[in-house]
Amino acid sequence: MDSVTDTAKYDFTTAVDRSAFDSEKWAIMRRANPAVPAGIPPFSVADLDLKNAPEIIDGLRDYLRHAVLGYTATPEAYTQAVVGWMQRRHGWTVQPEWIVQSNGVVPAIFNAVRAFTAPGDGVIVQTPSYYPFYQAIERNHRKLLRNPLVLRDGHFRIDFDGLEKLAADPRARLLLFCSPHNPTSRVWTRDELRRVADIVLEHGLILVSDEIHFDLVLPGHRHTIMATVGADIASRCIVCTAPSKTFNLAGMQASNIVIPNEELRARFAEELAATGFFSLNTLAYKTCELAYTQGEAWLAGLLALVQRNHAAVRQFMARRLPQVRVFELQGTYLQWMDFRALGKSPEELRRINEQQALVFFDEGGMFGPEGAGFERMNLATPAAAVDAALERLAQCYG
Ligand SMILES: Cc1ncc(COP(=O)(O)O)c(C=O)c1O
Repeated sequence: MDSVTDTAKYDFTTAVDRSAFDSEKWAIMRRANPAVPAGIPPFSVADLDLKNAPEIIDGLRDYLRHAVLGYTATPEAYTQAVVGWMQRRHGWTVQPEWIVQSNGVVPAIFNAVRAFTAPGDGVIVQTPSYYPFYQAIERNHRKLLRNPLVLRDGHFRIDFDGLEKLAADPRARLLLFCSPHNPTSRVWTRDELRRVADIVLEHGLILVSDEIHFDLVLPGHRHTIMATVGADIASRCIVCTAPSKTFNLAGMQASNIVIPNEELRARFAEELAATGFFSLNTLAYKTCELAYTQGEAWLAGLLALVQRNHAAVRQFMARRLPQVRVFELQGTYLQWMDFRALGKSPEELRRINEQQALVFFDEGGMFGPEGAGFERMNLATPAAAVDAALERLAQCYG
């Protein structure tokens, strides 16, 4: 599999030391252990320790040669790029007016919570969950309604009975849904999404579907956009998308929030306007356009690398650390693993990982109590770095 990425036109093998670029993830690692030698990357926050696609960097360079960086109206080329991507990659026909810009999916989620619920209202989350979901609820003084995923036959599944019960809670107003799911990497099937949609509709909830990982799907799986499951749910959902996970553009802070229903869109936009937000920055529009018009070949290389790294983790753990359970990576580049059979507390795991093995995961407990004893490993990094980290782990636990 190495040859797929090594011989490709793109560079997926050079390890980029992102300390030089003030990467947040690298700074967190150095704070946790200042003695980490140069050349060891962290495997935590979900961005890529890989160079950006050359099409994006060269395109930005060309643009900057001529551009004047004043206030910028939403460019038609950007809008068409987003519409084209949704159609080509996801079979979803998006009308240009459905797209609302936000400077991140997390800010959009906070905004949706404020727009569609009142203080004290209930927001349902499938747990373990990407932790800003909890913050969006708690910081806005809403009530978190937890519906833990169920591990059955090696896969995390939605507890539909639990969801039905929570949806019937008179406080419940909104379901904050992650698809594909971070941190378990589940790519929900169309049938699963239909059942979720039916519960949402039956109880008159609003569905905020965070689909930021929608392009990152491994062979054998298929991502379905929630709004394509039926016209009924399309009119009750807010679909959060962005080029940021796919193309390593998180620092550009551009996301596309697609809201087919005019009334919901107006409420969302009104709340956003109340924060004083009115536009993305000029380069955010441009990078999104470049990624969505010229990035597909690079993305194929990235997916091959993630697939290779996932296979390497599975094989390595089976051979050298069989107590660690490695779940199938269906989507995202975030490998979810169960370390509980090693018999260590979460604190011990963290200490051994960070101080002895020099492997910096996102500790499972960050995603809620259901994640304690699990680890999330970012696989969007050169193969050699993954292999070396596995070897260091085996030396500490083996
Ligand atoms: C599910 C999910 N939503 C949102 C984000 C971040 O979104 P943004 O950087 O656009 O705020 C992430 C980043 O890891 C994520 O995994």
